[in-house]
Amino acid sequence: MQENDKRIHHVLSYVRRTGRLDDRLKRAWQRYSPDFLLDINAGDGLLDLTPGFVFDRDFVRKAWGNENPLVIEIGTGQGENIIAAAQARPETNFLAVEVYDPGVAHTMLRGGKLRLANLRIAQVNAPELFKASEPGVAEEVWTFFPDPWPKMRHHKRRIVQPALADDIRKSLCKGSVWRIATDIEDYALHVHEVMDGRSDFANAGDLTVSLPIEHVGKGTAGRAASLPHADFKESERYEGRVLTNFEKKGLAAGRVIHDFTYRAV
Ligand SMILES: C[S@@+](CC[C@H](N)C(=O)[O-])C[C@H]1O[C@@H](n2cnc3c(N)ncnc32)[C@H](O)[C@@H]1O
Repeated sequence: MQENDKRIHHVLSYVRRTGRLDDRLKRAWQRYSPDFLLDINAGDGLLDLTPGFVFDRDFVRKAWGNENPLVIEIGTGQGENIIAAAQARPETNFLAVEVYDPGVAHTMLRGGKLRLANLRIAQVNAPELFKASEPGVAEEVWTFFPDPWPKMRHHKRRIVQPALADDIRKSLCKGSVWRIATDIEDYALHVHEVMDGRSDFANAGDLTVSLPIEHVGKGTAGRAASLPHADFKESERYEGRVLTNFEKKGLAAGRVIHDFTYRAV
């Protein structure tokens, strides 16, 4: 049993790569990390949280210097989305959670140029941060275009999982939402499977979308159209999301974007 627990714990949604930073990004890191990067990871290149760290409103008050509501984006990539949101909504605190060095550096560079006072960045494994969260610390959580992990044997690496949903629900204020978007049809089915049967979240979508009800993976995706389908509830495109390169690539490849809004009940 213990062995099993260990194995489950170590299934990660990312592959640790030390992406190389060019000189511009290295300078951005040096210059802006004191302003943006939260000192909450275990250090030495580890993406684990500092042991004993508690993510609560008190921490938010100290780290942002105010009582404003907090929006957390998991997997911010180059930061296009969270930077635009932080710029548009100065009265809201934003936290970018990203593991990949170049993404973190780009986000700092953009945030620094715009002198965003309401942005902070956590370079940690996102599920650990939510595990350490206290009830009601977050006003909203966003997960846009999570890594698709298309091979069947890798589906377990998808970041949207029941344990993360438990912890995100705990972190959210009642009535707040977890917004998710994906351009991968099979990931959309995965999101519905993880989220729709939960009693602590309500699917607030008002669009009806037909999806295959069996999973396909890399190499078998072509079978999807001929599989039995069912109707699911999804949302209109979230107007607070900018078009990132990931979304552009998905659209250019002819993929349909699936948006989800799950309300904490
Ligand atoms: C496909 S990209 C999408 C980036 C961005 N949301 C966008 O739409 O452009 C997924 C991002 O999630 C990050 N990621 C994956 N697993 C993560 C984790 N456990 N914690 C934090 N970030 C993670 C990856 O490093 C990557 O930058």
